[in-house]
This record gives sequence, structure tokens and C-alpha cells, in this order.
Amino acid sequence: MKKALYPGSFDPITFGHLDILERATHLFSEVVVTVAVNRMKKTVFTADERVEMIRSCLDDKSWKNQVTVDKFEGLLVDHAHRHQVNTLIRGVRQVSDFEYEFRMALMNRKLGKDIDTVFLMPREELTFISASLVREVAYWGGDLSQFVPEHVARQLADRQYYKNQNSGNSN
Ligand code: PNS
Repeated sequence: MKKALYPGSFDPITFGHLDILERATHLFSEVVVTVAVNRMKKTVFTADERVEMIRSCLDDKSWKNQVTVDKFEGLLVDHAHRHQVNTLIRGVRQVSDFEYEFRMALMNRKLGKDIDTVFLMPREELTFISASLVREVAYWGGDLSQFVPEHVARQLADRQYYKNQNSGNSN
């Protein structure tokens, strides 16, 4: 019985994240997806909305019983210790991701000597997807169906529409 923590901003969760999550369920008996609450970072969705969105993504997955979703604020290693977990999962899409991920993994291991990070690669055709690009496509009203599940696309489109309507900015 090995448990791992899959942390991230998930603003919003994408098909890339879901691919990593499924791969993690093949390696670990239990995976906790944990949404970072970062009051310094402006997000499209609140942490609670992101948690709910992720939970809804699991409905049709055969591996859903292996996954729980929560949120955390503060240091990730502290949250890992609260869960009595010493393995973190992170997705690496391309070499350029690796430098940041490598520094973060080493910092987390400094902060918690027992904490190791396992890097997983998504399916090649998902490697270009990032939450920030998805937000940008959503902002301009592009088709999101290849990047995020339908309910996520709907919520993103609604949120962007609402923002655009209320921005009062015609530039
Ligand atoms: O999806 P993201 O934005 O790349 O996730 C980054 C995240 C949330 C995992 C990272 O910023 C994090 O762990 N934040 C919590 C604060 C912390 O523990 N920082 C020290 C690790 S370098």
C-alpha cells in the first residue's frame, strides 16, 4: 500500500494532468491530488472550485477509487507529512520543465529529508498542453475540447465570458 501526493495549481485541470494522474494510479495504490491555495497568485478558479472540478473529472474513471482530492496552503512538505506521504508526483512535459521541477524537488527534499519526487511524462500528444495556454485560448473564446474535459471547458468559458462582460475594457 503506497500512497503519493500529486500537487499543483490545476487552474484548470487539463487532459495532461489527468493522464499523469492515471499513470500515478498504476504505480501507487492511493493518490491524493492536492490543489495549492496561493493567495499571492491570481487564479481563474478558487481552490474549492478547482477541487470540485477535479472530483467531477473522476466520475467516469475506472481508477477513481484510488484517488482523493484536497487542497493545501503553506509548504507542500508539511502537507505531505500530514498525509504521512513521502512521494510527490510531478508531470514533466519537456526538457524545459525539468530545470524548475528539479530545483523544486531538491528544495522539497531539503525541507523534508524523507520526501522524494517521482516525475512522470504524459502521452506525447498531450505534452504541449498547459493550464496557462488553456486559459489563454479560453480568454479568446477558442475551442477547448482537445485540452480539458467538457465540464471544465464549460466552466472556463462561462468564467471568461463573465469577466469579459464585466471588464469594461474595450481596448
Ligand atoms: O501546478 P504548479 O503551479 O506548477 O504547482 C506548483 C506547486 C503548487 C506544486 C508549488 O508551487 C508548491 O509546492 N507550492 C507550495 C509552497 C511550497 O511548498 N514551496 C516550496 C517548494 S519549492
